[in-house]
Amino acid sequence: MSLAVEAEGLKKKFGDHQALRGVDLEVPTGTVLGVLGPNGAGKTTTVRILTTLLEPDEGRARVAGYDVALQAHQVRSRIGLAGQSTAVDARLTGRENLRLVGRLYRLGRRESCARAEELLTQFDLLDAADRPTGTYSGGMRRRLDLAASLMVRPPVLFLDEPTTGLDITSRLLLWGMVREQVAAGTTVLLTTQYLEEADHLADRIVIIDSGQVIAEGTPEELKRKVGRDRLEVVVADPGRVMEARSALVRAGGDEPVTGADGRTVLVTLPDGVAAIGEAAAALAEADMELTSFVVRQPSLDDVFLALTGAQVTTDGSAA
Ligand SMILES: Nc1ncnc2c1ncn2[C@@H]1O[C@H](COP(=O)(O)OP(=O)(O)O)[C@@H](O)[C@H]1O
Ligand SMILES: [Mg+2]
Repeated sequence: MSLAVEAEGLKKKFGDHQALRGVDLEVPTGTVLGVLGPNGAGKTTTVRILTTLLEPDEGRARVAGYDVALQAHQVRSRIGLAGQSTAVDARLTGRENLRLVGRLYRLGRRESCARAEELLTQFDLLDAADRPTGTYSGGMRRRLDLAASLMVRPPVLFLDEPTTGLDITSRLLLWGMVREQVAAGTTVLLTTQYLEEADHLADRIVIIDSGQVIAEGTPEELKRKVGRDRLEVVVADPGRVMEARSALVRAGGDEPVTGADGRTVLVTLPDGVAAIGEAAAALAEADMELTSFVVRQPSLDDVFLALTGAQVTTDGSAA
């Protein structure tokens, strides 16, 4: 397994503030790592170090096989970066912006133009290509920014909160575009405050909080860490809700609770599929008519809450 990104013990202090306290991470080539954390966790600082824009106080990192401190030039020619604040010039049109990026990367006039057209088409920006980007919507600007980061077909792509502040339609569109890059073999390190985004896009996730990695694993592993499956049943007759609860306790469920609607029963099950079968059997034996029987896995929200005591809501704000 070759690593496209490897960082060891990254530390960074701004004034008195220790923004990174020793961050380690690895991204195997061809995979997506989601770096998940609330505002101020140190995500952008990490990305800036890995993209040679900032020197760490301590630690080392290699990207695409090159040391970010000693071989910054080699690193830069192999990465793309789409940041939180878009890098495009608002006075130039979308097409001009892309061509400019191509020239900056010494692509040559012809190739810059050809690649710009390709990306404008791929990112659904052809209709807007001749408008100054200052007139673009937030979603269009992010798409253009992502397109700009792909002008030179970098093998390693860094996306720093690519969808923060976007509506769900634009977000889904961008997710699709990121997936296309991954399918084409690009390695991606993506930071996000959205649990859902990490869950959808990432092969592995590291959760960072206050400049430290506090957990890592696949989305599934992280969810399993915090808890067991929960069963949610809705009884047809609200008058029999207590009976349903007793049946579930007999099946080994922990502390069933009744939902506010008076007919939903929630219960935590012991591990494994067998427990689900036993719960179903106990309800059938009690001749319980149900309108719904659903098993829910813990969400990444549960993971985050369990690890940090803070809740990250799906709109990305830490509470
Ligand atoms: N250039 C800087 N000068 C001073 N403090 C900074 C600077 N950049 C980041 N910080 C601080 O470092 C911490 C981590 O910031 P950042 O990496 O931007 O977090 P995130 O991207 O996860 O929101 C924050 O407390 C932030 O205020
Ligand atoms: Mg940031």
